[in-house]
Amino acid sequence: MFSPASLLSLSSLYVLLVLLSCFFGGVSSVPTKVGKGYRLISAEETSDGGFLGHLQVKQKNNIYGPDIPLLQLYVKHDTGDRLRVHITDAEKQRWEVPYNLLPREQPPALKQTIGRSRKNLLTVSELAGSELIFSFTADPFSFAVKRKSNGQTLFNSSSGGSDSFGEMVFKDQYLEISTQLPKDASLYGLGENTQPHGIKLYPNDPYTLYTTDVSAINLNTDLYGSHPVYMDLRNVGGEPFAHAVLLLNSNGMDVFYKGNSLTYKIIGGVFDFYFFSGPTPLDVVDQYTSFIGRPAPMPYWSLGFHQCRWGYHNLSVVEDVVENYRKAQIPLDVIWNDDDHMDGHKDFTLNPVNYPRSKLLAFLDKIHNRGMKYIVIIDPGIGVNSSYGVYQRGIANDVFIKYDGEPYLAQVWPGAVNFPDFLNPKTVAWWGDEIRRFHELVPVDGLWIDMNEASNFCSGKCTIPKGKQCPSGTGPGWICCLDCKNITKTRWDDPPYKINASGLQVPIGFKTIATSAVHYNGVLEYDAHSLYGFSQAIATHKALQGLEGKRPFILSRSTYVGSGKYAAHWTGDNKGTWEDLKYSITTVLNFGIFGVPMVGADICGFYPAPTEELCNRWIEVGAFYPFSRDHANYYSPRQELYQWKTVTKSAQNALGMRYKLLPYLYTLNYLAHKSGAPIARPLFFSFPAYKECYGLSTQFLLGSSLMVSPVLEQGKTSVKALFPPGSWYNLFDMTQTIVSKGQYFMLDAPLHVVNVHLYQNTILPMQQGGMISKEARMTPFTLIVTFPAGASEAQAKGNLYLDDDELPEMKLGNGYSTYVDLYATLKQGSVKIWSEVQEGQILGLGSKSIGLNDQSDEHK
Ligand code: NOJ
Repeated sequence: MFSPASLLSLSSLYVLLVLLSCFFGGVSSVPTKVGKGYRLISAEETSDGGFLGHLQVKQKNNIYGPDIPLLQLYVKHDTGDRLRVHITDAEKQRWEVPYNLLPREQPPALKQTIGRSRKNLLTVSELAGSELIFSFTADPFSFAVKRKSNGQTLFNSSSGGSDSFGEMVFKDQYLEISTQLPKDASLYGLGENTQPHGIKLYPNDPYTLYTTDVSAINLNTDLYGSHPVYMDLRNVGGEPFAHAVLLLNSNGMDVFYKGNSLTYKIIGGVFDFYFFSGPTPLDVVDQYTSFIGRPAPMPYWSLGFHQCRWGYHNLSVVEDVVENYRKAQIPLDVIWNDDDHMDGHKDFTLNPVNYPRSKLLAFLDKIHNRGMKYIVIIDPGIGVNSSYGVYQRGIANDVFIKYDGEPYLAQVWPGAVNFPDFLNPKTVAWWGDEIRRFHELVPVDGLWIDMNEASNFCSGKCTIPKGKQCPSGTGPGWICCLDCKNITKTRWDDPPYKINASGLQVPIGFKTIATSAVHYNGVLEYDAHSLYGFSQAIATHKALQGLEGKRPFILSRSTYVGSGKYAAHWTGDNKGTWEDLKYSITTVLNFGIFGVPMVGADICGFYPAPTEELCNRWIEVGAFYPFSRDHANYYSPRQELYQWKTVTKSAQNALGMRYKLLPYLYTLNYLAHKSGAPIARPLFFSFPAYKECYGLSTQFLLGSSLMVSPVLEQGKTSVKALFPPGSWYNLFDMTQTIVSKGQYFMLDAPLHVVNVHLYQNTILPMQQGGMISKEARMTPFTLIVTFPAGASEAQAKGNLYLDDDELPEMKLGNGYSTYVDLYATLKQGSVKIWSEVQEGQILGLGSKSIGLNDQSDEHK
């Protein structure tokens, strides 16, 4: 939400933040050891084959509040590859991520009496599943998770008397647990944050998880999403083993990674750990997304190029943009409106002067006939305005978050707003109805849900100032003009342990919904804060799916564990700098691990203004983001790709290639939906044994075999790129081959060149490209088959998925989808290619025209 206006104010904001952090106690010098831990006093088997125990605190203290005296421990091998360890207060129900938002088994109900101590269970101290073994030490209680096949300890909460961390702590507003780690483990995940050191977690960098509207330019701070999950990749004697650890907890937390240990410090909720055994990175994401929800299937067109901007002041500007893309011969599928089309920044409205409905409908008819799509933004804040229907119906249905029994008053673009409570089923129904009404007004093809951390220009409890207009000015505006009391010092607004919110230890209610505000069923914002965007995505998805029975497209800024099932994501407000171009790769790759594979960054940067050279290089990277969109801030100069001749050329080149690759990208989208496999992947996904690529954050793969090695530095016309062992073919000129023993190569990369290489033993389905995906997908197919250079015998594989992409579901067996396995062998100079069609025929193309029938073809 940053603009030059906000930039101007950043210095004063900083002063304020410093003052606030002094007021709230400053960066706390956290004692490493808060308590003496717990002891296991009972253990019994449960009827579902789990293990139930009770833990008693060893010695109470009051640091960060009193200890919870008795805890319930529940351990269960949910599946052969997933182990759950759940620890909560044994005597009182505590806040957990709601089971209806993220469906999973309920742990056993809390017992009034402690189970009988069963000596044999206490001494056996081990519970084996098919690959993961849970073991514990009773006093002080600690647990470990081991891998059966190689005996490696994956997680071990025992401090072992070491200095690095203390025993487990469980208080109402402070939970702490640590694990020992081998020094050579490579960890990934724990976001969302901008990681200057690349994809591999970097010892002593802070990882704070709490959904926050802080510009993505802030390094190592809590950003828009919260994903308390990490993947751990280890190389044991040359053999790679990956597993993941999810701590399903929505409260704010700091995670400290020290290289040989990792410590969680959380301000509420429970310990609900899930261990996913892998052992390959692809297995890990498969197991993870089978638990949190498979990534949403994306419509074909959404893989085309998108153009957006804040500040398309009227419809003619938008029309010009579309025409200029056509003239410049740069592919474009989707045109977006930020809040410029709205009447007074109010959701679901149209500005009658700048975006008159009749003209907008005529424009949409025109672009829809070409196969193009239109998406608009909605913010969660609903303008408090008695003549605004959306608000009136919201009040009538009692859909808003409350504070002191009244709808909580905040301020966003429309001025004073109330925030819908998406945890309330009534809100979900009302929201669905508003989306339906809006869709009747404007047939949009998708929705962009922004500012849903939730972002608020004010903090604490506010009222509308008497006799004052709010907002006070035109344009985006962001200064709080409500009358607000200081953030109160309640235990929610000012918890005993302070996470490193916004990287500056501001109060956790700073510029968001007050943490003492109340949701449906008495749920506190303090607990549910990081679920706001997630719950909004679920409600929006439900609404869109109900419309015309089409596959929804939603772009959400705030995400949580499971958001990928409903929405795509972009990396938020980045800067048009070379650093931010580089960081975008890490964030995109992380979201693949988080189960949100449809992800991209604002191409050319959100603000303030990219240089021409940077924009050239950015489209060369962005053309290969899963989600490819150019977007800019209100005050930035125009940066559509046609604005510069050189960028036009780079865009034609890079996006031209993307449009040829659409069948491949769509197949990756299908595979992501089936098995969680990220569309864009770090190299270690395909080369997990090859240690050299474990930290590589400047190159990435699309699928398993297509490697993008972009220029990320100013003034460079070559790029040093790592090539895992094998033969690699330049996708833009297949005669150029690199045969690598596992080395870096210096590649030519003049301004209009991006290096994309295809690995050996691959069959890549491509089409001829075009200016709109609808046209591109009607062109003939080409199969690129690669074998190791000089090989006399080899095999290659590929696959292709096609369907009617407007169908809500993406699956085989509905009569509108086709999945083809492609095979090729090379033997004595002759290549045999054949396919196995799993289902149906390719719609509208006919299997003959593309040669994808079940017979084999032999070519010399
Ligand atoms: C903040 C978003 O991050 C940005 O992309 C958008 O342009 C502004 N809000 C205005 O809606």
